[in-house]
Amino acid sequence: MSEKTPPTPLLDELEKGPWPSFVKELKKEAHRPMVQDLLGLLERSYEERVGHWKHGGLVGVMGYGGGVIGRYSDLPTEFPACSEFHTVRVNQPAGLFYTSDALRELCDIWDRTGSGLTNMHGSTGDLVLLGTTTDKLEPIFAELTAKGWDLGGSGSDMRTPSCCVGMARCEWSCYDTMNACYDITQEFQDELHRPMFPYKYKMKFAGCPNDCVASIARSDCSVIGTWKDDIQVDAKAVTEYAKNGVDVQGEICDRCPTALHEVGRQD
Ligand code: HEM
Ligand code: HEM
Ligand code: SF4
Repeated sequence: MSEKTPPTPLLDELEKGPWPSFVKELKKEAHRPMVQDLLGLLERSYEERVGHWKHGGLVGVMGYGGGVIGRYSDLPTEFPACSEFHTVRVNQPAGLFYTSDALRELCDIWDRTGSGLTNMHGSTGDLVLLGTTTDKLEPIFAELTAKGWDLGGSGSDMRTPSCCVGMARCEWSCYDTMNACYDITQEFQDELHRPMFPYKYKMKFAGCPNDCVASIARSDCSVIGTWKDDIQVDAKAVTEYAKNGVDVQGEICDRCPTALHEVGRQD
């Protein structure tokens, strides 16, 4: 932490306790003037109980209408280094698989062009880069796209689709969520980058009704895998268990929430 970091007695409270602390993380990057001013501004908000971010202000990159979210503070003279603090959403890979080289590449770009602060991953699904200035947006966009990355959605567009890890790691997956997510992302590139709807639209893909990606709560179109067949019973194995003393009716059938099963029932 730099000596220039302003005193933040109220924020310091949020460093206490065993859980992760965003204040701790901010202080790790406080050698940067942008993060110093961000800490100062946030402390001020805690003192005054007033948010000091203005709402609105459109920023973006040429050719896209989405992917960058404009943030301006209403105390630009007191905290000049974070008077502009725009968010860049980077479209995440399906299933959130990265090589360490890929992560280093992103972090190197962001170290040079932004605040160094990231959010992996946002509720939208994107890999979120937090805090940069308007003049850096085109250079960031150029560097990201040259290396095969792309921006995600924002505003009234088709938002970056996201999925659970699915069959890459999970035994419950009833379909290939990553493939569906990737496919839909490609299909709707135009709608994703160029807001043309009256409101945003979100799609999320869950491999099974556990819905680990919280698609029901977080999307307009939630795609959830279900089992498509009759329930399969290995009658020979059940008999074997019963012979060995398992109370199949009591331990298994009576505990099934469908209440449809009985030992010996054939339909
Ligand atoms: C004018 C100022 C700001 C406004 C109006 C604002 C509003 C919002 C809204 C509406 C969202 C979307 C909620 C969601 O999708 O989960 C969001 C996301 C987020 N904002 Fe802000 N915000 C502002 C400034 C900031 C600042 C200064 C930071 C950090 C220093 C920040 C950090 C985040 C993070 C981490 C997310 C989650 C992104 C995601 O889940 O995809 N915001 N903000
Ligand atoms: C306890 C209360 C709230 C919770 C837990 C909550 C949670 C969330 C979450 C998780 C999202 C992200 C959805 C996604 O993209 O995956 C979201 C988005 C959003 N919330 Fe809330 N929210 C709350 C209250 C509010 C209120 C009171 C407002 C407005 C007055 C609001 C405005 C928004 C907006 C505008 C977005 C969409 C931002 C965007 O992606 O463009 N939320 N909220
Ligand atoms: S939603 Fe289902 S398939 Fe996807 S990770 Fe969760 S348990 Fe696995």
